[in-house]
Amino acid sequence: MSDFDDDYDIRTFAAALSPESTDDRPRADDETAAWIRAEALGFHEAAPDDDAVGRTARRLVADGRVETGVHPRDPREGALDGDGLPVATFESFVESLNVGGGRLIDAHLISGVTVQPTHRRRGILRRMMTDDLARAKSAGLAVAALTASEGSIYRRFGFGVGVRERTIEVDPRRASGLLGDPEGGVELVSRDALIGLAPEVFARFHARTPGSIDRHEGAWNRLLGRERPDGTPDPAVRGAVHRDSAGTIDGYVAYRLEGENETHTLVVLDLVAATDDAYLGLWQLLLSVDLVTGVRFAGASQSDPIGHALVNGRALRVTHDEDHVWFRILDTVAALQARPWAADGVVTIAVGDSLGHAAGTFRVTSEGGSATVKRAAVRRADIELDVATLGSLWLGGVDPVTLAAAGLVRERRKGAVQTVRAMIAADRPVHSITHF
Ligand SMILES: CC(C)(COP(=O)(O)OP(=O)(O)OC[C@H]1O[C@@H](n2cnc3c(N)ncnc32)[C@H](O)[C@@H]1OP(=O)(O)O)[C@@H](O)C(=O)NCCC(=O)NCCS
Repeated sequence: MSDFDDDYDIRTFAAALSPESTDDRPRADDETAAWIRAEALGFHEAAPDDDAVGRTARRLVADGRVETGVHPRDPREGALDGDGLPVATFESFVESLNVGGGRLIDAHLISGVTVQPTHRRRGILRRMMTDDLARAKSAGLAVAALTASEGSIYRRFGFGVGVRERTIEVDPRRASGLLGDPEGGVELVSRDALIGLAPEVFARFHARTPGSIDRHEGAWNRLLGRERPDGTPDPAVRGAVHRDSAGTIDGYVAYRLEGENETHTLVVLDLVAATDDAYLGLWQLLLSVDLVTGVRFAGASQSDPIGHALVNGRALRVTHDEDHVWFRILDTVAALQARPWAADGVVTIAVGDSLGHAAGTFRVTSEGGSATVKRAAVRRADIELDVATLGSLWLGGVDPVTLAAAGLVRERRKGAVQTVRAMIAADRPVHSITHF
């Protein structure tokens, strides 16, 4: 056994409910309950009571999440780990990911990563991550993904930023409306109606948006006000839908008003559009709500169209711009073959990967929208990059010309980066509106 294994016992298990659990009163089994309490501690949340732990466990089970808890072999009496709480948490589960052209693949999602301050920098995260990625690779998954609460942790494990997101704020009084007049119409609906119709609209958004990750159970609770941490619905959530000219609902927005009197901020909680008209029509509504001095949307893409659509584009400010989804390629051949290819071409790519999963030199031959990817025995590849950079450019959400300028893609054959740029261009802006 290594020193690490002398010190720690790593337990990996499927989230589970206890035998006493009922629909009305969900209860976690002991190991799942301890994991949930430790994760809340790691993310600085209030200690959950048994009801809150039970509700969380129900979500984790519904998602099919696999939890890892790390326990000291020598727990300290009176300390939290002595009470059976793990000192580190980690979880993973599978959801579908749109890789472009309407193609969906299974992605290995990682979440719930915490290490207690008393056990930091002893290699616990490194161990949990490398074990988990190895399991995902042997289960046949081509890519892992995560959303990070800190930007400096995950590149070392081969994750690169593939999707960014922005917070935009529009002053409706300055905006003077939209330049065009979107087709269809909007109407306000109750929160319950929204909860009923949202999954179908999201499924249409998901099917047409490269980079989109399907939603897990908990995402709906927060975005639609279905269930707050205390288990009750959020009465402040408002909703509206857009109908196309045939009357079919093709978009919705959930929002909340903050502030008072004539200076409310309209905070968009969830804005999901399956068509361009739905997106514009819903923004037209948001900009016409009275007593509002700002409309804030934290889930905008890098290519959000609203700045162009407004009569006065200067009414929009980007107030935040951050990494959103990080991709970690586990199987280079499968990941590159899964996505559609925009232009015919041939390029050889050398990929470095300290964990080994994605490493090698590959020849990509794209023709008629699909690529064949084979290991190649060439002395020098056309471009060289590491696995994290491959994750960034994989779906076409980050321009390889920009990545070359950042020193992350090395061009060994003149013009190869431009060739890759044409080949990997995405059919629509790469975006995701799921946090996990
Ligand atoms: C971030 C966190 C999980 C790291 O856990 P850890 O067990 O201390 O990490 P390890 O000891 O395995 O370190 C692994 C590597 O990451 C580096 N690292 C760890 N935390 C880091 C941080 N916050 N910033 C930069 N590098 C970090 C270590 O230096 C080490 O590098 P090396 O392998 O090149 O030597 C832990 O500090 C934590 O729980 N933070 C609060 C919750 C959080 O932010 N979780 C992330 C959710 S997405």
